[in-house]
Amino acid sequence: MNIAIIGAGAIGSAIAQQLARAGLDFGIANSRGPDSLAGLVRDLGPHAAAVSAAEAAQADIVFLAVNWSKIPAAVKDVGPWQGRIVIDANNAIEAPLFQAVDLGGRASSAVVAELLPGARLVKAFNHLQAALLAGDPRAEGGRRVLFYSGDDAQAKARVAQLIERLGFAGIDLGTLDGGGRLAQFPGGPLPVLNLVKFA
Ligand SMILES: NC(=O)c1ccc[n+]([C@@H]2O[C@H](COP(=O)([O-])OP(=O)(O)OC[C@H]3O[C@@H](n4cnc5c(N)ncnc54)[C@H](OP(=O)(O)O)[C@@H]3O)[C@@H](O)[C@H]2O)c1
Repeated sequence: MNIAIIGAGAIGSAIAQQLARAGLDFGIANSRGPDSLAGLVRDLGPHAAAVSAAEAAQADIVFLAVNWSKIPAAVKDVGPWQGRIVIDANNAIEAPLFQAVDLGGRASSAVVAELLPGARLVKAFNHLQAALLAGDPRAEGGRRVLFYSGDDAQAKARVAQLIERLGFAGIDLGTLDGGGRLAQFPGGPLPVLNLVKFA
C-alpha cells in the first residue's frame, strides 16, 4: 500500500505520527517543498519521506489535510485523481476567525470531492483535535474511535483496514452525504467527541 499526506501541519503531522508508529512507509508534502520538511521527517523516523505535493498525489491512498481555503490550490495541478483513494481530513472552518464557511447546504466532502475528479473520497481523520489524533489510539483500556464515510465500498474497506492497522476502532457512518455530515465540523454532532470502543 502506497500512502502519502498532502499537508504537514497539525493534522498532517498527527496522521504522520500514527503511520510512522505503525511502521508504514509514507510521503508527506506541504506548499513549500520537501526541503522545508527535513526536520519533520527526521523526527518522524525512517518510514517518512518528504515529497512534493505532486508526488504525494500519485499515492494509492492520499490524505488531504490542508487549510480549507487552500484546498483548491493544493489539489488543482497535482492529479489526475482517477481511482485514487483520497481521505478528506478537512473541516470547513479556519483559523484565526473560526467562522463556518457557507457550503450552500452541501456536505463539506461533496465540496472537496468536486475538486478531485475521479477520486474515491473517504471522509475520516477529521473529527478529533490534532493532539488527540496524534496520541496513542489504545486509550482508556480500549481503542479510540475514528469515523469514516464514503460512497465507494472498496475505498471505504481499505480505509477501514488502515484505521484498524493504526490501532484505532473504525466506525462506518455510511455515505458522504449521510455519515459525512454527521462527522463534519461545524454542523455535525460527532466532531471533537473523544470516544473509546471497548469490544
Ligand atoms: N487542527 C486541528 O485540530 C484540526 C482537527 C480536525 C480537522 N482539521 C482540518 O485539517 C485541515 C488541516 O488543518 P491543520 O490544523 O493541520 O492546518 P495547519 O496546521 O495550518 O497545516 C496546513 C498544512 O497545509 C499545507 N498547505 C497549504 N497550502 C498547500 C498547498 N497549496 N499545497 C500543499 N500543502 C499546502 C501547509 O503547508 P505550508 O505550511 O507549507 O503552507 C500546512 O502543512 C483543515 O482542513 C482543518 O480544518 C484540523
